[in-house]
Amino acid sequence: MEVFYQRREMNQQMLILKKKGNSIGFVPTMGALHAGHISLLQYAKKQNNIAVASIFVNPTQFNNKEDLINYPRTLDADLELLRKEGCNFVLVPNEKEMYPEPDLRVFSFGNLDKVMEGKYRPGHFNGVAQIVTKLFDIVMPDRAYFGMKDFQQLAIIKKLVTDYQYPVEIVACPTVREPDGLALSSRNKRLSDDERKHATLISKTLFWAQQAASSMTISELKKAVIKTINNDPFLIVEYFEIVNEQTLQPVKTWHDRGGKVGCIAVHVGKVRLIDNIIFY
Ligand code: PAJ
Repeated sequence: MEVFYQRREMNQQMLILKKKGNSIGFVPTMGALHAGHISLLQYAKKQNNIAVASIFVNPTQFNNKEDLINYPRTLDADLELLRKEGCNFVLVPNEKEMYPEPDLRVFSFGNLDKVMEGKYRPGHFNGVAQIVTKLFDIVMPDRAYFGMKDFQQLAIIKKLVTDYQYPVEIVACPTVREPDGLALSSRNKRLSDDERKHATLISKTLFWAQQAASSMTISELKKAVIKTINNDPFLIVEYFEIVNEQTLQPVKTWHDRGGKVGCIAVHVGKVRLIDNIIFY
């Protein structure tokens, strides 16, 4: 596995590989890697000759300074894990490398970022788009892998690639969970033992909601989910929305057209976690 710290070197390497006819699968990450990230890498390896990852804690997507400062950084362990999993190239740029000048670009996602994460973390998805477009320009992947755990991010990346006509196939990968159901997240590392135990209620309630969906209206189900989680003294729901899987706009009844997904953000002490569940 080769590690690059400079975008130019990575870009030149990618050009050489592409000229030789290789297909490149790319997994962008912010590090503190876990089995969710690794599952993306495994898809990338299966579907391409070359698997590339990046590790960069992107400051422009953090609307909360404390969250950026406290974001876990485990670079040595991350590189070891990627090496073991057969990753071919990793880009580990520093901030100057990715943002030699402040990035003033403003992206538009229609209504996709007016709800949920976009609403509660203003500017977050603009920052994600800034870094992902830069990374795509450097790596020029044939396919890029994103987790369904960040359902809204996935929808926004798909729109970005369509709007800018990037020749990249976006591959959606299922959420990897702990045995007790908690969705893997780099932020889980910041939970205390007690918080970690109580955080299980988030996915438990989502799975319950999936089962209960046929016996309740959307508004009843939303209320029940929020109440159940808020009843736990360790948890505070920021939002729970049941939205159309493509437009991400709230749906009013189960009869509304299209797939539906329930998206949630919950504060567990100082840590903010997100998760979602698809309704069939
Ligand atoms: P990060 O949170 O490190 O996540 C990197 C990728 O791993 C994302 O596509 C995310 O959806 C996926 N992922 C995280 N947890 C997962 C899980 N439990 N199961 C499956 N996939 C999971 O998302 C970002 O970084 C950043 O916003 C980034 C796209 C790298 C831009 O900075």
